[in-house]
Amino acid sequence: MDLLLRNVHLIDPSLQLDDSGLDLEIRDGVITRIGRGLKSDGEIRDLGGAIVAPGFFDMHVHLREPGQEYKETIETGLNAAMAGGFTSVCCMPNTEPSISDPFVVSYIKEKAAGHLVDLAICGTMTKDRKGDELSPMAALAKAGVKMISDDGAAVRSAEVMRRVFEYAQMFDLLVTQHCEEHSMTAGAAMNEGRVSTKLGLPGWPSVAEEIIIARDILLAEYVGGVRYHVAHVSTKGGVRLIREAKARAIKVSCEVTPHHFTLTDEAVEQHGTMAKMCPPLRTQEDVDAIIEGLVDGTIDCIATDHAPHAAHEKETDMVSAAMGIIGLETAIPLGLTHLVNAGHLTFAQYIELSSTNPRKLLGLPAIQIKEGERANLTIFDPTKKWRFAEGDILSKSHNTPFVGAEFIGKVVGTVNNGKAHFRA
Ligand code: DOR
Ligand code: ZN
Repeated sequence: MDLLLRNVHLIDPSLQLDDSGLDLEIRDGVITRIGRGLKSDGEIRDLGGAIVAPGFFDMHVHLREPGQEYKETIETGLNAAMAGGFTSVCCMPNTEPSISDPFVVSYIKEKAAGHLVDLAICGTMTKDRKGDELSPMAALAKAGVKMISDDGAAVRSAEVMRRVFEYAQMFDLLVTQHCEEHSMTAGAAMNEGRVSTKLGLPGWPSVAEEIIIARDILLAEYVGGVRYHVAHVSTKGGVRLIREAKARAIKVSCEVTPHHFTLTDEAVEQHGTMAKMCPPLRTQEDVDAIIEGLVDGTIDCIATDHAPHAAHEKETDMVSAAMGIIGLETAIPLGLTHLVNAGHLTFAQYIELSSTNPRKLLGLPAIQIKEGERANLTIFDPTKKWRFAEGDILSKSHNTPFVGAEFIGKVVGTVNNGKAHFRA
């Protein structure tokens, strides 16, 4: 690869770099020159002032392989990530079989090899996510797993959770909990509140999320030293608990999804099952608290919870429908529109939430935009107005409430592993 990116705005918060009108040259996957008015015999691409940032990392995606290839495969999922502006993703372990042993890890690694997008792998905390026996953490860590979770379910037993923390700490694994007190949420179709009452649907109360966050913070503090991460926090009370725990120097971190900072439970009235996910869409008060958490640093990163489901799994009633929406191809437009262009975050803050922070949590090497470093880049036009259409979707599944949504900000391309991808 011999590529000159002309007229770019480089932003790298780790270098306090924020400069426009630059050219950036990439040769054999390495940044060879950064300057103004550079000449090149290779391919030249004028990017018209687009922002070039360290490659974005989505630490929470469901790629469904092995076992549910009718929803997504590693290949289609990584293609959706690449088109969506991500150079790295971490896949969750609720596959069939689940990621509970090193053989599944190596199977997934083989499938992902050679792609522009790097794939990190999350193993289970308990065998087959059943919540009773610990997963073989030593073997998973040896196979390259950096994070464990039973995502889709929370570990019910406090005693099992305590042991998860004790063992995970020995292997320096990030413990990610899907926080849900299942005795309060069985059969729930949406957030418990005014809208669920109006629609006559069984509700999922916010306290069911907060009870597990609170329990786990207490356990993490009791065990000491373990790194605990709350997946897709969605409630005001959850954000408050995490803020308080951080203030007490407990090693807790969390992520939020684009749908939880943009939509409320009212979206269920318009979008039906396309607005069904777990945790559910909450209220405006929760959305406001999440944005406050993103601004003040309580929330560490943005992750999509990309959850592909086939058409027949969504084309049913609210109670029977599968939970989750795809997210890789709308995440950056939603972030740019609702966080940066709406005035809540600077570009530098947004890039830290999407690249620097999640990489740090997973222990991945830092990316820097400077000469001699490997080119691992996300490129976007922050002012482009456009409408998201079903035809834009590369994921195998199309379950999203955002078809037809208008965005300000569009992904232009991604560069990683000596490969470049630019959108038409
Ligand atoms: O909405 C969701 N879908 N939440 C989860 O935790 C799991 C995910 C899935 O696997 O479909
Ligand atoms: Zn989850």
